[in-house]
Amino acid sequence: MAKVKFYGAESVPLEMHKVRIVQKLNLPPIERRLAAVAEAGNNTFLLKNADVFMDMLTDSGVNAMSDQQQAAMMIADDSYAGSATYTRLENKLQDIFGMQYFLPTHQGRACENILGQVLVSQGSVVPMNYHFTTTKAHIVLNGGSVEEIVTDAGLEVVSVNPFKGNMDIAKLQDVVARYGAPRIAFVRMEAGTNLIGGQPFSLENLADVRKVCDQHGLMLIMDASLLADNLHFIKEREAACKAMSIREITRRMADLCDVIYFSARKLGCARGGGMCMKSEDLYRKMRGLVPLYEGFLTYGGMSVREMEALTVGLEETMDEDVINQGPQFIGYMVDELVKRGIPVITPAGGLGCHINAKAFVDHIPQSQYPAGALASALYIASGIRGMERGTLSEQREPDGTEIFANMELVRLALPRRVFTLSQVKFAVDRLEWLYANRKLIGGLSFVEEPEILRFFYGRLDPVSNWQNELVAQFKKDFGDSL
Ligand code: F0G
Repeated sequence: MAKVKFYGAESVPLEMHKVRIVQKLNLPPIERRLAAVAEAGNNTFLLKNADVFMDMLTDSGVNAMSDQQQAAMMIADDSYAGSATYTRLENKLQDIFGMQYFLPTHQGRACENILGQVLVSQGSVVPMNYHFTTTKAHIVLNGGSVEEIVTDAGLEVVSVNPFKGNMDIAKLQDVVARYGAPRIAFVRMEAGTNLIGGQPFSLENLADVRKVCDQHGLMLIMDASLLADNLHFIKEREAACKAMSIREITRRMADLCDVIYFSARKLGCARGGGMCMKSEDLYRKMRGLVPLYEGFLTYGGMSVREMEALTVGLEETMDEDVINQGPQFIGYMVDELVKRGIPVITPAGGLGCHINAKAFVDHIPQSQYPAGALASALYIASGIRGMERGTLSEQREPDGTEIFANMELVRLALPRRVFTLSQVKFAVDRLEWLYANRKLIGGLSFVEEPEILRFFYGRLDPVSNWQNELVAQFKKDFGDSL
């Protein structure tokens, strides 16, 4: 987005694109929303899109593509092996990250599967700024464990710290001393730290992590799924990087890492994934698993059309005016919520706006999944589908004890270039109403609880009649309005 100053009092983010294709939306009446959320077991993953007005579940695979991306899809070269499309993608990744070797995968978690199988074994430890659900699941599946060593500031909900995704270097030294370097499978830095509110780390912090890795001969792996947002924040917030281009910052980051993997459902606004690496030895170790799980080495489970779109999307990621749309819309939404006293993670991060359910519904105990309950209530109030990112998204201990999450969040993702500002204003309005009526919201309890990644398809019931009471209040306040 352009750095445009407004003459009037209201300053809003200004899009540097125009909309040339649209999709009709449906906002069902509140009675249908109440029925739909019950059919979905109060799990927003199980809602059907036909019942959803604003789909703010995720930015994954639902970002708007550019005309250039769509155009590139038309020249995709379909071939099982040796497609020209693959060569274009490989060249683009080498150009941007400067790493020689690339392995394509069907999406981000497939990289985690391969990294887990090759690098993690019984007793391995993986220090990281913060985990992501699928990342942790693959590490644990291979017998390893995760050490979460984000700086203390990372877990402060309300903050002005510009880099809440930074790793605590002293804690990293401590983890290495505690377990010994041979047990550390690798050190993982997640760009745009997803589960703590899309918070970035600084280039300086990455360089400091690298120094510790060098001292102990450890491998440094970056999860670059949310790199675009992180790049924007480095450019915007890190004094030493102000004069650097996005491309220069990207290369500087890549130079500090041994492996970069990503979900192309986020990075590059397409669908797919892959891993770039410097070491030929590691490439050879991992290569065999790609045809086994993904597809041949020149497509890795991706469609050639998506690979063409990704190649263009990666180049567009190097354009500051392209990657700042998401963070600026999120920044706008966060500011509007803060003005209304609604508890939200600050400073605004990438990916989406993160409502602090612990404070919003502070009367609901963690054992009744406050963030899940709030996501359900928000859907009833607005047709907006958000995502629980709290205790529900955790996994129980092997003995069945519940792990209470550090944060109870409802993530309202802003897929890139998808929503208009008036839709964002509608979301803010309904959140304001819900906040005024928050005491009506009650907890949830499981009726069907899967063992692995339960948040994806578990089903829950409200613990009382609270949802009907919420609907009654809505009808009192809004009458016939949708
Ligand atoms: N790493 C991060 C940081 C992610 O955010 C995701 C996905 C993955 C890895 C896995 O990639 O979905 O392509 O297999 N995040 C999505 C989300 C699911 O909604 O935040 P994937």
